[in-house]
Amino acid sequence: MTSTRPATEANTTVVHVLPTHLRRLVLTGFMGAGKSTIGRILADRLHWDFLDLDAHLESRTNATIPQLFALHGEARFRRLESTALASALGRSNTVLALGGGTPEDLTNRLLLEQTPGTLTVFLDAPFPTLFDRCMLQDIGRPILEDPAAAQLRFEKRHPLYLRLAGITIETSELTPHQTVDSLLARLDTPPVAHP
Ligand code: S3P
Repeated sequence: MTSTRPATEANTTVVHVLPTHLRRLVLTGFMGAGKSTIGRILADRLHWDFLDLDAHLESRTNATIPQLFALHGEARFRRLESTALASALGRSNTVLALGGGTPEDLTNRLLLEQTPGTLTVFLDAPFPTLFDRCMLQDIGRPILEDPAAAQLRFEKRHPLYLRLAGITIETSELTPHQTVDSLLARLDTPPVAHP
């Protein structure tokens, strides 16, 4: 078992003990699932690094996601996304938030399934909830320009997210902090409390 640095809760220090083989936690789910928000909180609680795949891709290409779609088209964006994923999976002690479409690609799914020490977590919610959340955010998402097509993508991707994930959490009734609590509770060892 590896223990992470302690987080203080009230008068008790809680140490989250993770399985020793675990090197990275990967958050997947559709746009609006909360992957980046939850990923940051989770990384903070574990004292791990946080990496957002879209941001990683943007810094590697020096272009925003909407620019990549507009300049090169979705197919080229997906190839760049795959390369960025392979690079991101080289990191340890990292919470990685995928893009909503990352698991559509078979090579990406194989990378995620076959990279040792990698546990994928699916943040699930119904499409209308996700769509409403996205409408409240100021993030350029070319895929949402056609809502009906976005819903079809959601339906196509949902079984892929489910199959890929070792843990699925239904988030529609949870705050991001509650989602992190639920995930930590489901990792195989309960937190050890030191009075
Ligand atoms: C996409 C989701 C986006 C981003 C790109 C394409 C998708 O990431 O990768 O706009 O195909 O669902 P988020 O899920 O972080 O918004």
